Amino acid sequence: MSDAIRSLIAGNWKMNGLKASMAEFDAMLAGGGAFAEKTDLLVCPPATLIAAFADKAKGKGVAVGAQDCHQNASGAHTGDLSAEMLVDAGASAIIVGHSERRADHGESDALVRQKAQAVWRAGAIAIVCIGETRAQRDAGQTLDICGGQLKGSLPDGATAANLVVAYEPVWAIGTGLTPTTADVEAVHGFIRRVLTDRFKTEGGRMRILYGGSVKPSNAKELLDVANVNGALVGGASLKASDFLAIAAGC
Ligand code: PGA
Repeated sequence: MSDAIRSLIAGNWKMNGLKASMAEFDAMLAGGGAFAEKTDLLVCPPATLIAAFADKAKGKGVAVGAQDCHQNASGAHTGDLSAEMLVDAGASAIIVGHSERRADHGESDALVRQKAQAVWRAGAIAIVCIGETRAQRDAGQTLDICGGQLKGSLPDGATAANLVVAYEPVWAIGTGLTPTTADVEAVHGFIRRVLTDRFKTEGGRMRILYGGSVKPSNAKELLDVANVNGALVGGASLKASDFLAIAAGC
């Protein structure tokens, strides 16, 4: 099934990047076209760089996205950015429900669901993140936790065109640790079943990304796992050479 799905390598720059990072992004644009045949590339810089990156990326093989949005379209929410603003700046996809947002800002499944709907309202693709903590994994709760997050975070009306799911075990993010490929296969297979049960044929075509310590040296084996349709990459997406080497693993 995953053979027919176009893969996506998405870079999440988190709170990293200044205007000087344009040189690194330029290198990504220079090398990104090589993957156009079967892989989509997306870079999600901090919001301050979206407009400049999107201007540069026009007509090249790399899309630009955002890392979070507010659920409302506008209003009295000091410091927040709406999905409409991010799309206006040039974002074509927005990550919602990243575990760092869930942990640092107390974001619930219900809020993540509202944010995903806001992303669609603005006309962009929602990348919804889920994943268990180390304690939850050790307690054998991985599938329960992921199932609950999927149920609570995904709005009705999701399609293969407007939704990407990212499975990111919290304990694998930024730690250099990754689950075994057998564990990744089990969780991604479970996510696929949940998506097809709920969204039928659309669920069978949605992209499910793996995220958490993906780097050039482990990308290929993770990307070869059944129902892994790409990767959400944090640290290794900051360097063009690493990011493009990961894309080469698709
Ligand atoms: P990492 O982050 O690749 O640095 O582990 C992944 C993520 O948080 O999306």
